[in-house]
Amino acid sequence: MNNKQKDIVIGMFGFGVVGEGLYKILQQTPSLNARIKKSCIKHPGKKRNAPEELFTTDKDVLLNDKEINVIVEVIDDSTAAFEIVSTALKNGKAVVSASKKMVAEHLAELLELQKETGQPFLCEAAACASIPVIRNLEEYYDNDLLHSIRAVVNGSTNFILTKMFDDKISFQDALILAQQLGFAESDPSLDVEGYDAVNKWVILLNHAYGIVETIDHVLFSGIQNIQLSDAMVAKEKGFDIKLVAQAKTLLNGKVAAYVLPEFVRLDDQLAFVKNEFNGVVIESGFADRQFFYGKGAGSLATGSAVMSDVSALRYGYKYEYKKRYHHTPKELTSEFYVRVYISFDDIKKFRKKILNGLKSGMQDWKEAT
Ligand SMILES: NC(=O)c1ccc[n+]([C@@H]2O[C@H](COP(=O)([O-])OP(=O)(O)OC[C@H]3O[C@@H](n4cnc5c(N)ncnc54)[C@H](OP(=O)(O)O)[C@@H]3O)[C@@H](O)[C@H]2O)c1
Repeated sequence: MNNKQKDIVIGMFGFGVVGEGLYKILQQTPSLNARIKKSCIKHPGKKRNAPEELFTTDKDVLLNDKEINVIVEVIDDSTAAFEIVSTALKNGKAVVSASKKMVAEHLAELLELQKETGQPFLCEAAACASIPVIRNLEEYYDNDLLHSIRAVVNGSTNFILTKMFDDKISFQDALILAQQLGFAESDPSLDVEGYDAVNKWVILLNHAYGIVETIDHVLFSGIQNIQLSDAMVAKEKGFDIKLVAQAKTLLNGKVAAYVLPEFVRLDDQLAFVKNEFNGVVIESGFADRQFFYGKGAGSLATGSAVMSDVSALRYGYKYEYKKRYHHTPKELTSEFYVRVYISFDDIKKFRKKILNGLKSGMQDWKEAT
């Protein structure tokens, strides 16, 4: 897409929570001069809030249409999504995506594809939905001055934790409520076990520090083992529990990054982040601490980030990946300390686990020395 092109003709893959959100937003923003020409979906029989002629199940109808200059990819299948996105880029189309799993799984390949094709690939909605964190990390924070980022990046787990701890409803009921409201992924284990959060963190590590890694190299856990008794302990000591993603520049210049449930002080900005909201605290030299806050999931909130990317394409915006290509990218390290709180139901089982862990650790150590 060239800079002078003003009209945006979209081919949109997916018409679920996000796709329908974008469709509604575009109907209310005629000044954008953007229209969805066709939407490719998977199940043609579904009832949808849009004219039937908008839909097709044939991806090539969109990918080979010369008039379509922007592909919006908002589907929930990362393998199909990567195929769609790579074909679109190779076919000379700009791409906007919200699929964090796809981006995190194919980060290195996506960077190469953008280099090869020169086409923009924007994915603001894939990180913290409505919060413009990617573009801020890309454009505003210099690599050497960025000390740390701490964030609540998963709206569904934050919603579940808030409902469990503030409204005292069970984990299962809170999860069902999150799904009914469109905050949870189609596969809830992606949220609950921390995969969604670490996928987003892998994306942000790239825009923040130029680090291109897979989730296998980032320590992470979800909220699947948190119980109400843990919340009681936290409250008693003046803390809340949040699933926090962190990245911090260490004294040796390397970056420690992880996603773990954390005791957060009640006066910490992240304790203010409730329900499906996300929050990002960035610490940098001279500017000190900044806090971004907004909806991290939902139809219109996520659709608005997609729309903002579509709008940015009108003036030729693309990520320059400055931290990777114009600075010396930071190195990720797995050598850092964390303080751990352990809770258990059965002391005997727990002791046995610890002893077994120590024995196998000793064995590994003996074998290694
Ligand atoms: N929901 C959120 O708040 C949110 C926030 C940020 C990012 N995201 C990301 O945005 C993406 C979409 O999420 P969603 O919540 O909108 O999902 P969703 O409601 O489950 O909708 C998925 C859509 O993808 C379509 N689809 C699936 N496979 C397809 C294929 N191979 N070809 C064409 N269409 C296909 C489905 O078609 P049918 O309608 O025919 O089944 C459906 O319309 C996901 O990657 C998600 O991680 C979501």
